[in-house]
Amino acid sequence: MYYYFAPMEGVTGRLFRRVHSQFFHGVDKYFMPFVSPGKDRVFSRRDMRELTPDAEARVPEVPQLLTCQAEDFLWAAELLADLGYREVNLNLGCPSGTVTAKGKGAGFLRDPDGLDRFLEQIFSRAKVAISIKTRVGFSSPEEFERLQECFDRYPCAELIVHPRVRSDFYKGKVRLEAFASAVERSTVSLCYNGDLTTSDEIGIFRQCFPAVDRVMLGRGLVGDPALASKAKGGPSSDRDTLRRFHDALYEGYAEAFGSRHNAMLRMKELWFYLIWLFAGHERLGKTLKKAKNPAEYEACVEAIFGEFSLQRDSAAGWRDQPIF
Ligand SMILES: Cc1cc2nc3c(=O)[nH]c(=O)nc-3n(C[C@H](O)[C@H](O)[C@H](O)COP(=O)(O)O)c2cc1C
Repeated sequence: MYYYFAPMEGVTGRLFRRVHSQFFHGVDKYFMPFVSPGKDRVFSRRDMRELTPDAEARVPEVPQLLTCQAEDFLWAAELLADLGYREVNLNLGCPSGTVTAKGKGAGFLRDPDGLDRFLEQIFSRAKVAISIKTRVGFSSPEEFERLQECFDRYPCAELIVHPRVRSDFYKGKVRLEAFASAVERSTVSLCYNGDLTTSDEIGIFRQCFPAVDRVMLGRGLVGDPALASKAKGGPSSDRDTLRRFHDALYEGYAEAFGSRHNAMLRMKELWFYLIWLFAGHERLGKTLKKAKNPAEYEACVEAIFGEFSLQRDSAAGWRDQPIF
């Protein structure tokens, strides 16, 4: 079974992936948050900092592109291949209104004929493997049969399916029936993504879908950084490892941003998910959210690690309904 780390803009950037892979094992590929190649044929310095391959990376990393223009995709894919990447991922899932209005991300799913022409161009001309991350439709999962016929025509390195439609965003129950139908129709192994947060859930998922040999974990793996390793039979995270992971990340951000305050803000994004791994998370989450400066934040983190025990599994409170 392969476990992939999902791309999460604002959370799983270069530093996060490096530090995560130093402290936790089990991830077979990290997918990088999207970048949008534009007509001007340059990536910003910030994008380039994120895209420059990490010489210390121990696990393959896959950059992701968000575009509906074949020429822009091909330009960026060539640049990424020259940087040494072997796979580039196409984002067909982003639900944001500003993205879908331009026909990108999940917005591209509304135009299967245009998508087919785009795929024909990029698969015939790109010199790097292409994988796709998609939802099961824009408005309805019934759209997926047509979309899947289109994907099946091309040699996709991975077809990663998040079984929600655009208006679901990341909420509500995942549409497992739509995923089951996709698996039945598929001639290649699909990668599943969505709402897996414990190794027990991953175990049930595997029983339900024995033909699926790869899953992508996002919020569940941010909320329990040992989840992929646990799913492979490894132990739960211990307090010491989690603390060292936290400190390495916090100090890394402080150095990269030149500001402990900004590092604190970034860490709060992480705690939105991580807090649910601790017993007493209801009260702790509120105190942490209220921390106004690094000193208050650091005192709060000290209290969390000093006084509260880690649970075996995350309570995954960001999710409104469990997967099964
Ligand atoms: C804060 C946040 C940022 C995300 N950024 C991206 C992104 O850059 N590219 C992408 O394909 N998906 C992105 N996603 C979607 C995740 O990759 C994933 O598909 C989604 O969270 C569902 O999987 P999960 O339930 O395992 O988290 C993002 C999701 C969240 C919550």
